[in-house]
Amino acid sequence: MTTKALSDAHVMHLAALRAQSAVIDAEGLRIGSQYVMFFAEAGLMREHVTRLTEGFTRPNVLEVGLGLGVFATQLLEREVGSFTAIEPHPEVALMARTRVVDAFDVPVRVLVDPWQLVTLPADAFDAIMYDTWPPDGHADSDFAEFVAHVAMRCLRPGGRFSFFHSGTSIGPARRAVLDRQFARWTAYPHTMPAEQTPPHWTKPSRDFLVPIATKGGA
Ligand SMILES: C[S@@+](CC[C@H](N)C(=O)[O-])C[C@H]1O[C@@H](n2cnc3c(N)ncnc32)[C@H](O)[C@@H]1O
Repeated sequence: MTTKALSDAHVMHLAALRAQSAVIDAEGLRIGSQYVMFFAEAGLMREHVTRLTEGFTRPNVLEVGLGLGVFATQLLEREVGSFTAIEPHPEVALMARTRVVDAFDVPVRVLVDPWQLVTLPADAFDAIMYDTWPPDGHADSDFAEFVAHVAMRCLRPGGRFSFFHSGTSIGPARRAVLDRQFARWTAYPHTMPAEQTPPHWTKPSRDFLVPIATKGGA
């Protein structure tokens, strides 16, 4: 049996995250004083859902970082087989569960833990969306670890992986992971219309990419 453990940086980051209160207002979800997700990102999340699930019949979907439930809300429009979400902040998880996840009429699970401590079944998911909030300086290393140890094991052959990406180009570290681990991948540009920008918009850009990577072996 393997015992999973978090680095000191992750332990401190999660403790700080969980110590802050979570509030949903007309614009989106604030953890502490910072907006982490906006309702205005619905169009972006819709594109993630569409590109992750198109062509699959009743896909089993995993989301890592349930947050405000914007991705999950878009997924409600799609006929899925099951929905599993990971969200380590208890208040955030509870709000998303009652606001969105309980509306699914298929099996759902909300795991209130960081993904690093969760064990998921192998070859179980058709689609995985990764949208978390890692400690500063750990975004690319967490991404590489997640892809190698979770996405590759838990996606079924031919399954798809996507992740939140702000900006118009994917950096070399992530490109190398995608090239190494997946049979193929591509990234679709998406721009949030200027008139939809919320008053307290915090993200670096209104330009995004919707990456879609496909596991080989189908
Ligand atoms: C940007 S939000 C996700 C927004 C979500 N995709 C939506 O559609 O509303 C990022 C979320 O990742 C969560 N998170 C932080 N560390 C995490 C970890 N180690 N594992 C899973 N989720 C994590 C945060 O608590 C936060 O709710």
